[in-house]
Amino acid sequence: MEKQTDLSEAEIAVHWQEEGYYHAPVSFVVQANLRDADVFKRFSPENFPECYKEYADLLSWYKYWDKTLDTSNAPFWRWFVGGKINASYNCVDRHLEKHRNKTAIHFVPELEQERIQHITYQELYVRVNEMAALLRNLCGLEVGNRVTLHMPMVPELAITMLACARIGVIHSQVFSGFSGKACAERIVDSGSRVLITMDGYYRGGTMQDQKEKADIAVAEAASQGYAVEKVLIWQRYPGKHSSPQPLVQGRDVVLNEALKSYRGTRIEPMQMPAEAPLFLMYTSGTTGTPKGCQHSTGGYLAYVAATSKFIQDIHPEDVYWCMADIGWITGHSYIVYGPLALAASSVIYEGLPTYPDAGRPWRIAEELGVNIFHTSPTAIRALRRAGPDEPKKYNYHFKHMTTVGEPIEPEVWRWYYETVGKSEAAIVDTWWQTENGGFLCSTVPALHPMKPGSAGPALPGIYPVIYDEDGNEIPRGANKAGNICIRNPWPGIFQTIWGDPERFVRQYYARYNKREGSKDWRDWPYFAGDGAVQSADGYYRILGRIDDVINVAGHRLGTKEIESAALTVPEVAEAAVVPVADEIKGRVPDLYVALKPGAKPSHELEERISKAVTTEISPIARPRKVWIVADMPKTRSGKIMRRVLAAVSSGKDAGDVSTLANPEVVADLRKMAETAKV
Ligand code: PRX
Repeated sequence: MEKQTDLSEAEIAVHWQEEGYYHAPVSFVVQANLRDADVFKRFSPENFPECYKEYADLLSWYKYWDKTLDTSNAPFWRWFVGGKINASYNCVDRHLEKHRNKTAIHFVPELEQERIQHITYQELYVRVNEMAALLRNLCGLEVGNRVTLHMPMVPELAITMLACARIGVIHSQVFSGFSGKACAERIVDSGSRVLITMDGYYRGGTMQDQKEKADIAVAEAASQGYAVEKVLIWQRYPGKHSSPQPLVQGRDVVLNEALKSYRGTRIEPMQMPAEAPLFLMYTSGTTGTPKGCQHSTGGYLAYVAATSKFIQDIHPEDVYWCMADIGWITGHSYIVYGPLALAASSVIYEGLPTYPDAGRPWRIAEELGVNIFHTSPTAIRALRRAGPDEPKKYNYHFKHMTTVGEPIEPEVWRWYYETVGKSEAAIVDTWWQTENGGFLCSTVPALHPMKPGSAGPALPGIYPVIYDEDGNEIPRGANKAGNICIRNPWPGIFQTIWGDPERFVRQYYARYNKREGSKDWRDWPYFAGDGAVQSADGYYRILGRIDDVINVAGHRLGTKEIESAALTVPEVAEAAVVPVADEIKGRVPDLYVALKPGAKPSHELEERISKAVTTEISPIARPRKVWIVADMPKTRSGKIMRRVLAAVSSGKDAGDVSTLANPEVVADLRKMAETAKV
C-alpha cells in the first residue's frame, strides 16, 4: 500500500441529503435492451465467473475460450483464456453484411460552417485496412509493439486505433491537450518508436498547433536517450499543412499522402489471444509518474460491448453521442469500442461544447437525431451556466442520458433531467475508473429508479464492499463512509500497470488482501481509491478520491505531478498542491510554494510557476492560484500538512494544528488568503 496523505478529496466532499426516486418513462422501458430482472440472479456469485459468457457472446470469436477465468497468478486475472478474437473485426468487418451503408461515425467539426462528415461502416472498413497496411509495411510494426497516439477528436483517431487493433499493435493514446513533454513521458514509458499525431485541430475557434507538440515530444524523449523513429501526421484538412512547423525529413510522414500507395489494400485481422493487450491508457496515481493501465482484448471488449448495450441501451438504430474525449478511457470504451462493437452510429465532436455558444450541443443533437447523450457533470454545469434555457429552443429528443466522471450535485442533475432531457429520458450516473474498462456502479435504466447524486447499485456481476480503515465491512444504511472495493474480478479490469507489476499489486490489491500468495479471487478485493457510502436501498454515493489524486473537470491529476512541475522552476524549494471546490469544474488545484533562500516573491514568478505546470503537463492542470508562502505548515517530522493548506484555500477551519512544528504560520496563511483576490 502506498502512503496516504493527510488530505483527501473525500474529506472535502459535499454531503448531500438523500434524494427521492425518479422513474424512467414507460416509453423507454418498453424498448430497453435489459428489462429482465433475472439478470442479477444469473450474475450472482454462485454463477461467477461463468455468467460472463453472456457478455462474451455478444462478440464474434474465432475460437471459444477453454477457461473463463484463470486465477492461478492472482491478482493478475486472465479472462477467456484460450479464446481467439480481433477487436477491429468485431467493431468493423462483422457489421458489413447488415450495416455496410450505415453511418459508423458522424464527425462534427468545431467550425459550424463545415459540413458534418458521415463515415459508413464500409468506409471505415476501407480506411482501417489501408492504415493497418501502412503501419505494418511502412513502419514495420508487429504484434505486441506499442505506438503512441497524440490525436485530437477526429475520426482518424478511431481509424488509427482500429488499425492498430487489426494487426495486434498496442495503442497508447495520449489526451491531445497534454503537452509535448507529457507525451514524451508516455512514449518513453511505453517504448513506442512511432508517434502518430495530427497537424492541428480546432478548439474554441482557433487552430491549435498539435505538430509542435510532436516535435517537443521527440526532442524531450531524445534528451532522455530515447529515439522516436517516425512521426506519422494526419492532416486536419487533407492536402493542406495546418501547422506552422516544417516537416522533419526522414522522420515525418504525411499520412494522407502516404496512404495513397495503400489504396485498396486489405489486411486480414490477426487472430489475437483474448488475453493479448489491446491498449494502454495512462492515468495519474499516487506517485509522480503516470501509469500505463494495460487493457486486454477479449475481456475488455466483452465488458464494454455488454455495458454499452445494457446500461447505455444502445441499439443499432440509435444515434449515440458521448461528448468525452477519446484521449480518456470514457472515449475508448464508450465512443469507440463499445458502440462500434454494437454497430451503432457514434458521434465524434471536435471542439468545445460551448463553441460558438451554449446552444451548440443541442443543435448537433437536433441535426443528427441524437437520442442517447453521454457527458460529464463539468460539461453539464458549464452548459447550464452559459445557456440555462438553450435546450428548449431545439427539437431533439433523448431517450437516455449518462453522467460520468465526478459526483453530480442533485440540483445540476435536475437541470440535466428536466431541461436537457425534457423530462423524457432515463439518466444513468456511472461510476468507474480508467483501470476498470467499463462501468461498475449505475442503475440499470429500465430496472432501477434514478436517484440524483447517487451512482446507483452495482452492475450485474460486480460485488462491491465498503471497508473501514481496519478492514471491517461497513453495512449498507450505516450512514458511514469508507473505502469502496470490488470483491471480484470482472472481464473489463485492467491486466497490470505497464512495466510495473509490483506497483499494480501494491496499489490496488495489497490494502485489503486476505491471504498473501492466495490463488482464490475472494482473497483479493480490488481497492478503488474512492470514498463511498451505501444507503439502505443499496445505492452507492461516491465521495471522491482518498489518495493524492485531484479530479479536475473529470480529469484525473496527481498532486505529485503538479508539484514536480512547479519544482522545475529554479527558485522553488517546496511545492504542495491541494484541491479546492469549484462551481464549474468540481475541483481545481491550488498550488503553495516556498522559495529557496534569496529568491524574491513576485507576480512574474507566480506566472512562471503557473506556466511551468502548463508546459510540463497541460492547461487542464493550471493552478487556480499560486501562493508563495514564507513557510509551509509542517509536522515535527517535516511533512507538509496539506490538510491545513486545503482548509486555508477553502476558507474553512484548519482544525487541530497542535501537531504542527510551526503553528504560527496558520494565522499568516489566513491573513494572506483574506487579502488576496482569487
Ligand atoms: O473519483 C472517481 C471519479 O473519477 C475517478 C476515476 O477517474 P478516471 O480514471 O479518469 O475515469 C473517469 C471516467 C470513468 C474515480 O476514482 N468518478 C468517476 N465516475 C464517477 C466519479 N465520481 C462520482 N460519480 C461518478 N459517477
